[in-house]
Amino acid sequence: MKVKVSRKAHFNAAHRLYLPEWDDAQNESVFGKCNNPHFHGHNYELIVSVTGDIDPQTGMVIDMKELKELIKMEVEEALDHKNLNVQVPEFKSLNPTAENIAVVIWNKLRPHIAADRELEVVLYETPRNFVTYNG
Ligand code: NI
Repeated sequence: MKVKVSRKAHFNAAHRLYLPEWDDAQNESVFGKCNNPHFHGHNYELIVSVTGDIDPQTGMVIDMKELKELIKMEVEEALDHKNLNVQVPEFKSLNPTAENIAVVIWNKLRPHIAADRELEVVLYETPRNFVTYNG
């Protein structure tokens, strides 16, 4: 009997989407407002879900206190109020799109979640735009 448990989190971060090998016109055309050379911020909303069997002793799939702390240490400490392009090593040469941020978050959390648990990351870049990564 698999149960999915989820925790919501939040962080603010700045970014700029561009590819150095493209000229300004092509970057502007593809990335629009997110290409602003002076960077801009998003209020990211995150939903981290862990799926697995209920532990018969604790009655839990994962201890929510541990999940909360894990998200705080691995995601919020690393990304909150940061300029993703400039301050977060994972994006030195990786465009900080919502897709790539979700994958980076998943990769940071995965080693800390028990191997027999599935991990899913849903990242909202705006209230209407969100991406999902399951590994
Ligand atoms: Ni943007």
